[in-house]
Amino acid sequence: MKLRTVREIDPQGKKVLFRADLNVPLADGKVADDSRIRAVLPTLRWLLERGARVAVCSHLGRPEGKVVEGLRLKPVAERLEKLLGKPVPALTECVGPTVRKAVEALKPGELLMLENVRFHPEEEANDPKFAQALAEPFDIFVNDAFATAHRAHASTVGVARYLPAYAGFLMEREVEVLSGLLTHPRRPFYVLVGGKKASDKLGVLKGLLPRVDGFLIGGGVAFTFLAAQGLKVGKSVLEEKLIPTIKELSEEIKRQGKELHLPVDVVVAPELREGVEIKVISVQAIPEGWMGLDIGPATIGRFAEVIQRAGTVVWTGPMGAFEVPPFGKGTEAMARALISSKAFTVVGGGETGEAVEKLGLTEKFGYVSTGGGATLSFLQGEPMPALEVLRAD
Ligand code: 3PG
Repeated sequence: MKLRTVREIDPQGKKVLFRADLNVPLADGKVADDSRIRAVLPTLRWLLERGARVAVCSHLGRPEGKVVEGLRLKPVAERLEKLLGKPVPALTECVGPTVRKAVEALKPGELLMLENVRFHPEEEANDPKFAQALAEPFDIFVNDAFATAHRAHASTVGVARYLPAYAGFLMEREVEVLSGLLTHPRRPFYVLVGGKKASDKLGVLKGLLPRVDGFLIGGGVAFTFLAAQGLKVGKSVLEEKLIPTIKELSEEIKRQGKELHLPVDVVVAPELREGVEIKVISVQAIPEGWMGLDIGPATIGRFAEVIQRAGTVVWTGPMGAFEVPPFGKGTEAMARALISSKAFTVVGGGETGEAVEKLGLTEKFGYVSTGGGATLSFLQGEPMPALEVLRAD
C-alpha cells in the first residue's frame, strides 16, 4: 500500500488540519504516557519548520458525543507545548466561528489544539456536514493518526472529501513496518499473544495463521486454549463458548504444520490483589478457586528458547496481570527475551506498548506500534478506512 505523504506538499503559509491520535492515558489530570504525542513530533516539526499554520485534532477516550470535562485535550496540549518548546493554545471547540478565527490568526510556524472531536456525536457517525465544518477553515488535511486508522470517522475519513489529504511520517512508517511483516517477514516468524481475553485475539490469530510459523500464547488468552485441551483452569479467565472454536483453531494450526506453544506452568492466586498468597504450579494442577495470573518460570524458559531462534516476533498482549505485583514477571521476562534476541521485534501497541514503556525498554525493540486495535486490524487484514483515503495507488 502506497500513501500520498506530506513530502508531496509545500506547506508554507497553508492552514493544516493535523489529525493525530493523542488518545493517551491520563492520571490526576496529567498525561501519564506521552509516547503517542512524541510519535507525531517529526511530522509536526516538519510542517511547522516549513511555515505551516497547524491545528492539531484528536479524540481522547470515549465521551460518546458529549462534553466530558475529564476528557478535554488541554493536558495533552500542555505536554505537547513542553515537547515542542512553543505555545500550543487549547481551544474549547473543534468546529465553528471561534475555531475559524483562531486558525486565521495563526502565523506560519504556529499551532493550536482543537477540542476533543468526539464531544460531537457526528464525529463517530462520520456525518458529512460535520466533516465539512471540520475541514472548512483549512487548506490541507494531514493524517498521522495510525491508531485510529481502523475507524471511519469524520476526522479520519470524512474530511478527506473536502480537503487534499496526505499521510504524516508516523502513518507512513506504521504502514511500511506492518506491511513488511505481512509480505516479507524474516523467518521463522512467531506471534507472542497475551492479554485478557481469547475473543480479543481470535481475529489476529486466524488472520496471521497463513503467514506465521507459530504462536506463543500466554496471558488470559491461554486459559481458553488450555481448557480446549480438557484442562481445568479454576477461576482463571475462561470464555467457555469459544472452546469449540479454539479447539478447531488449535487443530488447524497443527494441520498446517505450525507451532502452538502454550504455558506449561502458571502463577496462581485466589484473587487478583497485591500481596496475595501465590503458588507456581503446572497447568495440569490449577486448584479449584484459584486463578492463573501470570506465566510461570518453566513457560518463560520455553518461550524464551523459541524467541532465541526467531527471525521475527510480533508481540500483542501482556503475559499476565502485569500492573499488579508480583504478576508482571512473565511480561518483563518476555520483554527482556525479545530485546536480547536477534529477531526483528514488533510490539503491537495498546497495553503491551504501555508495559514496555513502563519497563523503560521501548527504544530497545525493533518497532513499537502506536496502534492497539488499529495494529491488530491491519495485521489481520481488516479494512483500514482512514488509509484508503490516503492511497497513492
Ligand atoms: C486506541 O487507543 O486504540 C485508539 O485511539 C482508538 O480508540 P477507540 O477504540 O476508542 O476508537
